[in-house]
Amino acid sequence: MYLVLRRYALKMANVKLRTVLTLNSSSMNEKHINPADEVMCHCSGTTRAEMQRLFEQGMDMDAISRWTGALSGCGGCEWDVAAFLKELSEQGERSI
Ligand code: FES
Repeated sequence: MYLVLRRYALKMANVKLRTVLTLNSSSMNEKHINPADEVMCHCSGTTRAEMQRLFEQGMDMDAISRWTGALSGCGGCEWDVAAFLKELSEQGERSI
């Protein structure tokens, strides 16, 4: 009987430990960042919201780059920015 109870206690402790570890790791991985506040260009610190605002004011990618300094550093954001502006452009065409 003692061994059965001991095994049960160890099993429950293991389950509890796994639950705590899972909760901690999932809360650490969660991003509590508003997508609009996401920095798209880390070299210039330009956020997604700022890119969208400038795009809606009629700026193209080159103008946004000149205005914000985005895309003029390492160039690592180029694909993401281009895809985002293309997406905004397509959304604009759909709403017309
Ligand atoms: S991350 Fe945009 S130029 Fe470097």
